[in-house]
Amino acid sequence: MPIPTLEWKRNSLRIIDQTKLPAQLVYLELDNLQSVWRAIKNLQVRGAPAIGIAAAFAVVLGIRDVRLKSFSQFENRLKRVTEYLRQARPTAVNLFWALERMERAVRLHAHKSQAFLNRLLLKEAQKILQEDKDICRSLARFGSKLIKDKDIILTHCNAGALATADFGTALGVIYQARLQGKRIKVYADETRPVLQGARLTCWELLQHKVDVTLICDNMAAELMKEGKINKIFVGADRIAANGDTANKIGTYNLAVLACFHRLPFYVVAPVSSFDLRLRTGKDIPIEQRDPQEVRSVFGRQVAPANVKVYNPAFDVTPQHLISAIVTERGILRRPYKKSFKKIGGLK
Ligand code: MRU
Repeated sequence: MPIPTLEWKRNSLRIIDQTKLPAQLVYLELDNLQSVWRAIKNLQVRGAPAIGIAAAFAVVLGIRDVRLKSFSQFENRLKRVTEYLRQARPTAVNLFWALERMERAVRLHAHKSQAFLNRLLLKEAQKILQEDKDICRSLARFGSKLIKDKDIILTHCNAGALATADFGTALGVIYQARLQGKRIKVYADETRPVLQGARLTCWELLQHKVDVTLICDNMAAELMKEGKINKIFVGADRIAANGDTANKIGTYNLAVLACFHRLPFYVVAPVSSFDLRLRTGKDIPIEQRDPQEVRSVFGRQVAPANVKVYNPAFDVTPQHLISAIVTERGILRRPYKKSFKKIGGLK
Protein backbone atom coordinates (compact mmCIF):
# COMPACT_ATOMS: atom_id res chain seq x y z
CA MET A 1 0.00 0.00 0.00
CA PRO A 2 1.36 3.45 -0.88
CA ILE A 3 1.93 6.03 1.87
CA PRO A 4 -1.16 8.27 1.78
CA THR A 5 -0.35 11.51 0.00
CA LEU A 6 -3.51 13.13 1.35
CA GLU A 7 -5.94 12.14 4.10
CA TRP A 8 -8.58 13.75 6.25
CA LYS A 9 -7.35 13.43 9.83
CA ARG A 10 -8.21 15.28 13.05
CA ASN A 11 -10.49 17.65 11.11
CA SER A 12 -7.61 18.75 8.89
CA LEU A 13 -6.18 17.84 5.53
CA ARG A 14 -2.95 15.94 6.13
CA ILE A 15 -0.56 15.95 3.19
CA ILE A 16 3.02 14.94 2.47
CA ASP A 17 5.01 18.12 1.84
CA GLN A 18 6.37 17.14 -1.57
CA THR A 19 8.81 20.05 -1.70
CA LYS A 20 10.80 18.31 1.06
CA LEU A 21 11.16 14.95 -0.69
CA PRO A 22 13.33 12.95 -1.05
CA ALA A 23 15.50 14.38 1.76
CA GLN A 24 12.73 14.42 4.37
CA LEU A 25 9.29 12.86 4.71
CA VAL A 26 7.35 15.69 6.32
CA TYR A 27 3.60 15.81 6.86
CA LEU A 28 1.58 19.01 7.02
CA GLU A 29 -1.78 19.35 8.75
CA LEU A 30 -3.70 22.01 6.90
CA ASP A 31 -6.65 23.35 8.86
CA ASN A 32 -7.65 26.39 6.84
CA LEU A 33 -8.48 27.41 3.31
CA GLN A 34 -5.45 29.65 2.76
CA SER A 35 -2.94 27.01 3.82
CA VAL A 36 -4.36 24.51 1.27
CA TRP A 37 -4.34 27.21 -1.43
CA ARG A 38 -0.67 27.91 -0.69
CA ALA A 39 0.18 24.19 -0.61
CA ILE A 40 -1.34 23.80 -4.09
CA LYS A 41 0.36 26.91 -5.47
CA ASN A 42 3.78 25.99 -4.00
CA LEU A 43 3.62 22.34 -5.15
CA GLN A 44 3.57 20.93 -1.61
CA VAL A 45 0.65 18.96 -2.99
CA ARG A 46 0.76 18.46 -6.75
CA GLY A 47 -0.30 16.18 -9.59
CA ALA A 48 -3.69 16.68 -11.20
CA PRO A 49 -5.87 14.24 -9.18
CA ALA A 50 -4.23 15.22 -5.86
CA ILE A 51 -4.80 18.92 -6.57
CA GLY A 52 -8.51 18.24 -7.18
CA ILE A 53 -8.84 16.28 -3.93
CA ALA A 54 -6.98 18.93 -1.92
CA ALA A 55 -9.23 21.65 -3.36
CA ALA A 56 -12.36 19.68 -2.37
CA PHE A 57 -11.18 19.54 1.26
CA ALA A 58 -10.18 23.21 1.07
CA VAL A 59 -13.83 24.02 0.37
CA VAL A 60 -14.80 22.19 3.57
CA LEU A 61 -12.21 24.19 5.51
CA GLY A 62 -13.23 27.47 3.91
CA ILE A 63 -16.87 27.12 4.93
CA ARG A 64 -16.95 25.31 8.24
CA ASP A 65 -15.57 28.08 10.47
CA VAL A 66 -17.80 30.87 9.18
CA ARG A 67 -21.26 31.35 10.72
CA LEU A 68 -23.72 31.90 7.91
CA LYS A 69 -27.25 33.03 8.67
CA SER A 70 -29.05 32.05 5.48
CA PHE A 71 -28.71 29.79 2.48
CA SER A 72 -27.93 32.76 0.26
CA GLN A 73 -25.07 33.72 2.60
CA PHE A 74 -23.87 30.12 2.41
CA GLU A 75 -24.03 30.20 -1.40
CA ASN A 76 -22.11 33.50 -1.54
CA ARG A 77 -19.40 32.18 0.74
CA LEU A 78 -19.13 28.98 -1.30
CA LYS A 79 -18.78 31.03 -4.49
CA ARG A 80 -16.01 33.17 -2.96
CA VAL A 81 -14.17 30.09 -1.69
CA THR A 82 -14.33 28.20 -5.00
CA GLU A 83 -13.37 31.29 -7.05
CA TYR A 84 -10.35 31.77 -4.77
CA LEU A 85 -9.30 28.13 -5.18
CA ARG A 86 -9.71 28.32 -8.96
CA GLN A 87 -6.88 30.88 -8.97
CA ALA A 88 -4.37 28.46 -7.38
CA ARG A 89 -3.26 26.68 -10.57
CA PRO A 90 -4.81 26.97 -14.03
CA THR A 91 -3.90 23.85 -16.04
CA ALA A 92 -5.01 20.66 -14.24
CA VAL A 93 -8.73 20.44 -14.96
CA ASN A 94 -9.21 18.13 -11.96
CA LEU A 95 -9.10 21.23 -9.73
CA PHE A 96 -12.05 22.81 -11.57
CA TRP A 97 -13.85 19.48 -11.86
CA ALA A 98 -13.66 18.85 -8.10
CA LEU A 99 -14.85 22.37 -7.27
CA GLU A 100 -17.80 21.96 -9.63
CA ARG A 101 -18.69 18.72 -7.88
CA MET A 102 -18.66 20.43 -4.50
CA GLU A 103 -20.89 23.23 -5.84
CA ARG A 104 -23.29 20.73 -7.41
CA ALA A 105 -23.62 18.81 -4.15
CA VAL A 106 -24.79 21.97 -2.40
CA ARG A 107 -27.15 22.98 -5.22
CA LEU A 108 -28.94 19.63 -4.86
CA HIS A 109 -29.59 20.37 -1.17
CA ALA A 110 -30.48 24.04 -1.26
CA HIS A 111 -32.00 25.56 1.89
CA LYS A 112 -30.77 22.89 4.30
CA SER A 113 -29.08 24.03 7.53
CA GLN A 114 -25.42 25.03 7.55
CA ALA A 115 -24.55 22.08 9.81
CA PHE A 116 -26.15 19.74 7.26
CA LEU A 117 -24.36 21.39 4.33
CA ASN A 118 -20.99 21.33 6.14
CA ARG A 119 -21.39 17.59 6.64
CA LEU A 120 -22.50 17.18 3.04
CA LEU A 121 -19.39 18.97 1.73
CA LEU A 122 -17.11 16.83 3.86
CA LYS A 123 -18.85 13.67 2.59
CA GLU A 124 -18.47 14.82 -1.02
CA ALA A 125 -14.74 15.53 -0.55
CA GLN A 126 -14.26 12.11 1.05
CA LYS A 127 -16.16 10.55 -1.85
CA ILE A 128 -13.88 12.27 -4.37
CA LEU A 129 -10.85 10.89 -2.50
CA GLN A 130 -12.27 7.36 -2.29
CA GLU A 131 -13.28 7.39 -5.95
CA ASP A 132 -9.75 8.41 -6.92
CA LYS A 133 -8.44 5.30 -5.14
CA ASP A 134 -10.78 3.07 -7.12
CA ILE A 135 -9.98 4.89 -10.35
CA CYS A 136 -6.22 4.34 -9.86
CA ARG A 137 -6.84 0.60 -9.53
CA SER A 138 -8.99 0.48 -12.70
CA LEU A 139 -6.47 2.53 -14.67
CA ALA A 140 -3.79 0.11 -13.54
CA ARG A 141 -5.82 -2.93 -14.60
CA PHE A 142 -6.42 -1.58 -18.12
CA GLY A 143 -2.99 0.00 -18.52
CA SER A 144 -1.05 -3.07 -17.41
CA LYS A 145 -2.43 -4.91 -20.46
CA LEU A 146 -0.15 -2.68 -22.53
CA ILE A 147 2.96 -3.88 -20.65
CA LYS A 148 4.84 -7.05 -21.53
CA ASP A 149 7.42 -8.98 -19.57
CA LYS A 150 10.85 -7.28 -19.81
CA ASP A 151 9.50 -3.96 -21.08
CA ILE A 152 11.68 -0.92 -20.49
CA ILE A 153 9.51 2.08 -19.80
CA LEU A 154 10.28 5.78 -19.79
CA THR A 155 8.16 8.11 -17.66
CA HIS A 156 8.18 11.86 -17.11
CA CYS A 157 7.36 14.00 -14.07
CA ASN A 158 5.46 12.15 -11.34
CA ALA A 159 2.18 10.42 -12.08
CA GLY A 160 2.32 8.11 -9.08
CA ALA A 161 1.06 7.78 -5.54
CA LEU A 162 2.28 11.28 -4.77
CA ALA A 163 -0.02 12.68 -7.46
CA THR A 164 -3.16 10.79 -6.43
CA ALA A 165 -4.95 9.26 -3.43
CA ASP A 166 -3.71 5.78 -4.27
CA PHE A 167 -0.82 4.40 -6.34
CA GLY A 168 -1.08 6.74 -9.27
CA THR A 169 -1.95 6.78 -12.95
CA ALA A 170 1.09 6.10 -15.18
CA LEU A 171 3.07 4.66 -12.25
CA GLY A 172 0.03 2.69 -11.08
CA VAL A 173 0.16 0.83 -14.38
CA ILE A 174 3.80 -0.04 -13.68
CA TYR A 175 3.03 -1.21 -10.12
CA GLN A 176 0.22 -3.39 -11.44
CA ALA A 177 2.44 -4.94 -14.12
CA ARG A 178 4.93 -5.74 -11.37
CA LEU A 179 2.19 -7.35 -9.27
CA GLN A 180 1.44 -9.51 -12.30
CA GLY A 181 5.02 -10.74 -12.19
CA LYS A 182 6.25 -8.84 -15.26
CA ARG A 183 9.92 -7.97 -15.04
CA ILE A 184 10.17 -4.34 -16.04
CA LYS A 185 12.72 -1.56 -15.91
CA VAL A 186 11.91 2.11 -15.68
CA TYR A 187 13.80 5.20 -16.77
CA ALA A 188 12.68 8.37 -14.99
CA ASP A 189 13.27 11.76 -16.58
CA GLU A 190 14.53 14.18 -13.95
CA THR A 191 11.90 16.76 -15.11
CA ARG A 192 13.45 20.19 -14.84
CA PRO A 193 12.84 22.77 -13.53
CA VAL A 194 11.22 21.38 -10.37
CA LEU A 195 12.60 17.84 -10.66
CA GLN A 196 9.44 15.87 -9.91
CA GLY A 197 10.98 12.90 -11.73
CA ALA A 198 14.27 12.90 -9.84
CA ARG A 199 12.85 13.78 -6.44
CA LEU A 200 9.45 12.11 -6.42
CA THR A 201 9.22 9.37 -9.05
CA CYS A 202 12.61 7.87 -8.16
CA TRP A 203 11.78 8.04 -4.44
CA GLU A 204 8.43 6.37 -4.98
CA LEU A 205 9.69 3.65 -7.33
CA LEU A 206 12.57 2.79 -5.00
CA GLN A 207 10.10 2.52 -2.09
CA HIS A 208 8.22 -0.06 -4.19
CA LYS A 209 11.45 -1.79 -5.20
CA VAL A 210 10.98 -1.05 -8.90
CA ASP A 211 14.17 -1.11 -10.98
CA VAL A 212 14.50 2.59 -11.81
CA THR A 213 17.28 4.57 -13.48
CA LEU A 214 17.34 8.36 -13.39
CA ILE A 215 18.21 10.29 -16.56
CA CYS A 216 18.45 13.98 -17.40
CA ASP A 217 15.67 15.20 -19.67
CA ASN A 218 18.05 15.67 -22.60
CA MET A 219 19.13 12.00 -22.60
CA ALA A 220 15.88 10.41 -23.80
CA ALA A 221 16.63 10.64 -27.55
CA GLU A 222 19.97 8.87 -27.19
CA LEU A 223 18.44 6.10 -25.06
CA MET A 224 15.72 5.55 -27.64
CA LYS A 225 18.30 5.44 -30.43
CA GLU A 226 20.27 2.86 -28.47
CA GLY A 227 17.13 0.72 -28.13
CA LYS A 228 17.10 1.12 -24.35
CA ILE A 229 13.44 2.17 -24.14
CA ASN A 230 10.46 0.47 -25.72
CA LYS A 231 7.41 2.27 -24.25
CA ILE A 232 6.55 5.65 -22.75
CA PHE A 233 3.87 6.14 -20.08
CA VAL A 234 2.86 9.58 -18.78
CA GLY A 235 -0.03 11.17 -16.90
CA ALA A 236 -2.17 14.13 -17.93
CA ASP A 237 -3.34 17.44 -16.52
CA ARG A 238 -6.04 18.21 -19.07
CA ILE A 239 -7.23 16.44 -22.22
CA ALA A 240 -9.16 18.38 -24.87
CA ALA A 241 -12.14 16.82 -26.70
CA ASN A 242 -9.93 15.72 -29.63
CA GLY A 243 -7.39 14.00 -27.34
CA ASP A 244 -4.69 16.71 -27.31
CA THR A 245 -3.11 16.32 -23.87
CA ALA A 246 -1.49 18.81 -21.51
CA ASN A 247 1.07 17.33 -19.17
CA LYS A 248 4.33 18.42 -17.53
CA ILE A 249 6.63 20.46 -19.75
CA GLY A 250 8.84 18.07 -21.67
CA THR A 251 6.10 15.52 -22.36
CA TYR A 252 5.68 16.78 -25.93
CA ASN A 253 9.44 16.33 -26.53
CA LEU A 254 9.06 12.67 -25.58
CA ALA A 255 6.04 12.18 -27.83
CA VAL A 256 7.95 13.61 -30.81
CA LEU A 257 10.94 11.39 -30.02
CA ALA A 258 8.70 8.35 -29.59
CA CYS A 259 7.10 8.98 -32.98
CA PHE A 260 10.54 9.33 -34.64
CA HIS A 261 11.76 6.08 -33.03
CA ARG A 262 8.42 4.30 -33.62
CA LEU A 263 7.77 3.66 -29.93
CA PRO A 264 4.30 3.59 -28.36
CA PHE A 265 3.46 6.68 -26.32
CA TYR A 266 0.68 6.18 -23.75
CA VAL A 267 -1.25 8.66 -21.61
CA VAL A 268 -2.91 7.35 -18.44
CA ALA A 269 -5.60 9.56 -16.91
CA PRO A 270 -9.02 9.48 -15.27
CA VAL A 271 -12.09 10.46 -17.29
CA SER A 272 -12.25 13.62 -15.14
CA SER A 273 -9.09 14.86 -16.90
CA PHE A 274 -11.09 15.36 -20.11
CA ASP A 275 -12.32 18.87 -20.71
CA LEU A 276 -14.92 18.60 -23.45
CA ARG A 277 -15.47 22.37 -23.43
CA LEU A 278 -12.14 22.62 -25.22
CA ARG A 279 -12.16 21.44 -28.82
CA THR A 280 -8.38 21.15 -29.11
CA GLY A 281 -5.29 21.56 -26.97
CA LYS A 282 -4.79 25.12 -28.26
CA ASP A 283 -7.39 26.24 -25.74
CA ILE A 284 -5.77 24.64 -22.68
CA PRO A 285 -4.52 27.35 -20.30
CA ILE A 286 -0.83 26.82 -19.57
CA GLU A 287 0.53 27.85 -16.19
CA GLN A 288 3.58 30.14 -16.29
CA ARG A 289 5.68 29.77 -13.15
CA ASP A 290 8.23 31.84 -11.27
CA PRO A 291 11.42 32.47 -13.34
CA GLN A 292 13.45 31.68 -10.23
CA GLU A 293 12.57 27.98 -10.69
CA VAL A 294 14.73 28.02 -13.84
CA ARG A 295 17.47 30.40 -12.71
CA SER A 296 18.17 28.30 -9.64
CA VAL A 297 18.12 24.67 -8.57
CA PHE A 298 16.74 24.34 -5.07
CA GLY A 299 17.94 27.67 -3.83
CA ARG A 300 21.29 27.60 -5.62
CA GLN A 301 21.63 30.17 -8.39
CA VAL A 302 22.67 28.51 -11.69
CA ALA A 303 22.11 31.43 -14.09
CA PRO A 304 22.64 35.20 -13.98
CA ALA A 305 20.06 36.73 -11.67
CA ASN A 306 18.91 39.13 -14.40
CA VAL A 307 18.63 36.68 -17.32
CA LYS A 308 15.20 36.51 -18.98
CA VAL A 309 13.39 33.22 -18.40
CA TYR A 310 10.48 31.43 -20.07
CA ASN A 311 8.93 28.91 -17.68
CA PRO A 312 5.71 27.21 -18.86
CA ALA A 313 4.86 24.39 -16.44
CA PHE A 314 3.07 22.27 -19.07
CA ASP A 315 3.02 21.55 -22.79
CA VAL A 316 0.41 20.03 -25.07
CA THR A 317 1.02 16.80 -26.95
CA PRO A 318 -1.09 16.65 -30.12
CA GLN A 319 -3.45 13.68 -30.25
CA HIS A 320 -1.85 12.16 -33.36
CA LEU A 321 1.33 11.49 -31.35
CA ILE A 322 -0.56 9.55 -28.65
CA SER A 323 -0.85 5.80 -29.26
CA ALA A 324 -3.63 5.34 -26.67
CA ILE A 325 -5.23 7.03 -23.66
CA VAL A 326 -5.85 4.66 -20.75
CA THR A 327 -8.90 5.60 -18.66
CA GLU A 328 -10.65 3.82 -15.79
CA ARG A 329 -13.35 2.72 -18.27
CA GLY A 330 -11.07 1.35 -20.94
CA ILE A 331 -8.32 2.07 -23.43
CA LEU A 332 -9.11 4.77 -25.98
CA ARG A 333 -7.66 4.93 -29.47
CA ARG A 334 -7.96 7.56 -32.20
CA PRO A 335 -10.29 9.25 -33.02
CA TYR A 336 -10.46 10.07 -29.31
CA LYS A 337 -13.68 12.07 -29.51
CA LYS A 338 -15.49 9.01 -30.80
CA SER A 339 -13.85 6.47 -28.48
CA PHE A 340 -14.48 8.74 -25.48
CA LYS A 341 -18.19 8.81 -26.38
CA LYS A 342 -18.16 5.01 -26.62
CA ILE A 343 -17.07 4.66 -22.96
CA GLY A 344 -19.91 6.94 -21.86
CA GLY A 345 -18.27 10.39 -22.04
CA LEU A 346 -18.25 12.65 -19.00
CA LYS A 347 -21.15 10.96 -17.16
O1 MRU B 1 3.32 20.62 -11.74
P1 MRU B 1 2.87 19.26 -11.29
O2 MRU B 1 3.91 18.54 -10.52
O3 MRU B 1 1.55 19.31 -10.58
O4 MRU B 1 2.64 18.46 -12.65
C1 MRU B 1 2.17 17.15 -12.57
C2 MRU B 1 2.07 16.45 -13.87
O5 MRU B 1 2.32 17.02 -14.91
C3 MRU B 1 1.56 15.04 -13.85
O6 MRU B 1 2.13 14.29 -14.88
C4 MRU B 1 0.03 15.06 -14.03
O7 MRU B 1 -0.56 15.92 -13.12
C5 MRU B 1 -0.57 13.70 -13.89
S1 MRU B 1 -0.49 13.12 -12.24
C6 MRU B 1 -1.34 11.67 -12.11
